[in-house]
Amino acid sequence: MCGIVGYVGHGAAVPFLVDGLKKLEYRGYDSAGIVVQNGGSLEGRKRLGRLQELESVLSGLQTGNTGIGHTRWATHGRPSDENSHPHYDCGGRIAVVHNGIIENFLEIREWLAVNGHVFRSQTDTEVVPHLIEHYYQGDLEEAVRKALSHLRGSYALAVVSADEPGKVIGVQQDSPMIVGLGQGEFFLASDIPALLDRTRDVLILQDGEMAILSQDGVQVKDFSGQLIERTPFRVPWDAVMAEKQGYNHFMLKEIHEQPRALRDTLRGRISRDGTRVVLADVGLSPVAARAIERVMVVGCGTAYHAGLVGRFLFERLAQLDAQADLASEFRYRSPLLDEGTLLVVVSQSGETADTLAALREGRRRGAKVLAITNVVGSSAAREADYVLYTWAGPEVAVASTKAYTTQLVAVSLLAAYLAQERATMPPEDLHRFLQGLQLLPNQVEAVLACEEQTRRLAEQITKSDDAFFIGRGLDYAVAMEGQLKLKEISYIHAEAYAAGELKHGTLALIEEGVPVVALATQRHVWEKMLSNITVVQARGAYVLTLAPQGLTEAAQVSDEVIYLPPVDDLLAPAVAVIPLQLLSYYVSVARGCDVDKPRNLAKSVTVE
Ligand code: AGP
Repeated sequence: MCGIVGYVGHGAAVPFLVDGLKKLEYRGYDSAGIVVQNGGSLEGRKRLGRLQELESVLSGLQTGNTGIGHTRWATHGRPSDENSHPHYDCGGRIAVVHNGIIENFLEIREWLAVNGHVFRSQTDTEVVPHLIEHYYQGDLEEAVRKALSHLRGSYALAVVSADEPGKVIGVQQDSPMIVGLGQGEFFLASDIPALLDRTRDVLILQDGEMAILSQDGVQVKDFSGQLIERTPFRVPWDAVMAEKQGYNHFMLKEIHEQPRALRDTLRGRISRDGTRVVLADVGLSPVAARAIERVMVVGCGTAYHAGLVGRFLFERLAQLDAQADLASEFRYRSPLLDEGTLLVVVSQSGETADTLAALREGRRRGAKVLAITNVVGSSAAREADYVLYTWAGPEVAVASTKAYTTQLVAVSLLAAYLAQERATMPPEDLHRFLQGLQLLPNQVEAVLACEEQTRRLAEQITKSDDAFFIGRGLDYAVAMEGQLKLKEISYIHAEAYAAGELKHGTLALIEEGVPVVALATQRHVWEKMLSNITVVQARGAYVLTLAPQGLTEAAQVSDEVIYLPPVDDLLAPAVAVIPLQLLSYYVSVARGCDVDKPRNLAKSVTVE
């Protein structure tokens, strides 16, 4: 996600644009830019790097009283000066900044190029100013509306034109845009923090709406041009609360961002009829996919746990020999790889030293490397042969949440793609799996409703010294993630065990009141799982079971049950992990820990 600001008023535009972008840097910070109207022209600056790089080149920029700005979290087109926003039309008379993903930008770009438009960047965004230019006949609002009719995907936009001074147009579709109402001055921003120093009175745009800001005020219209009456909202938050959108911690905000993050990661990657995976942006051709003989997945921490799920899916869907290993172990064990091996490296930051070392070792041994990462232009992205980006947006909290679930979507898409190209799944089974994948954001949305129950249940765990997470198959992989979440932010000793393994030793640790979190989402092993739960409860454990709606037997053997919405067993991890994230969060809060910055840890471990 990126940060957008806009200004029209009696004052100078540049100070607000720069201050506003500073307050939105948590939304993206690999490049930044602003453009202002001066007389009959546009004058802009844009730079790779943090906002201070941009500030260093603003001297001499005559501030007008109309302008827009952008701080970028790259999606299409690696971070660079030319890929920074704003983007312009051929004549340099129209400027646009964008937050979101335009799914069909390639076909639009081709159409525009045939019509004589020349592009300067690799971004999806740049098609917008050229579309507006194509339709501009003296009415910017009308030209914007016609341009919007071509776009598919998510887009919050701010638009200015040299030919219509004193006007800024804001657009919202699946990406936020907020209007600030000042005294004789009006503002646009992706998020409230950018506005609070100037006003607390805002208009929240809805999807399918645009705002036309001028010196005379603000008009809100739908994409057909129909005026909309929107009541202003007075923001009760202070600036810090606003950066977390009213949540007390970034981690809780990011837990709740997961439906949007999953939608963005899925966007454009399943055919419109829902029957095929389309990984055009990854670069792994059908021929290369069919040449793969085995898959090795590596990562660290949460990324490794996503890799465990991926390994399961590569075997089950693509019928490939698949292994998963910790990156720090993989690189020292002399792995047997060759050109038939696809080494999948999973890394939110794309900068984890152990994972990069594993990537380099894999390449040295002849494997093809595919990186699953959340940062465009990261080291992993640059060094891999193929890249499958997650579109989670910046993850600020050290404890990874939305990165994990978008990694699950990524490995699911990859496994389905390999199955599709290797013809290892009947088409109807593939279609059903993809339908389930497309439903996942809604199911994650639905399971977030258990938040109050997890807040209450946290009390049962807060005073414990130990906690155990048990599961079978994919549930065991999720149990691994659950134990990591709990211990890294609450400092409680937690461990995950394959449920079938308990009787081989760990059961000795189960005594009165010891919390055991049991995952029972995998239908083919329910009976075994219920029996394992019975064993620990009989020895006094406090048992919290996560089970699909309908598995009512779970309540007979558990102290508490969190019921999950119906989901394909193979897609259950992304749903089952949500209560575990929330539970860990509320235990950490109850224990007074620093949720977003837990002791001893860093967001990206760039040392070995
Ligand atoms: C997860 O909550 C932790 N913050 C940590 O395990 C993290 O997943 C690990 O360091 C890997 O980071 P990466 O995904 O950026 O490579």
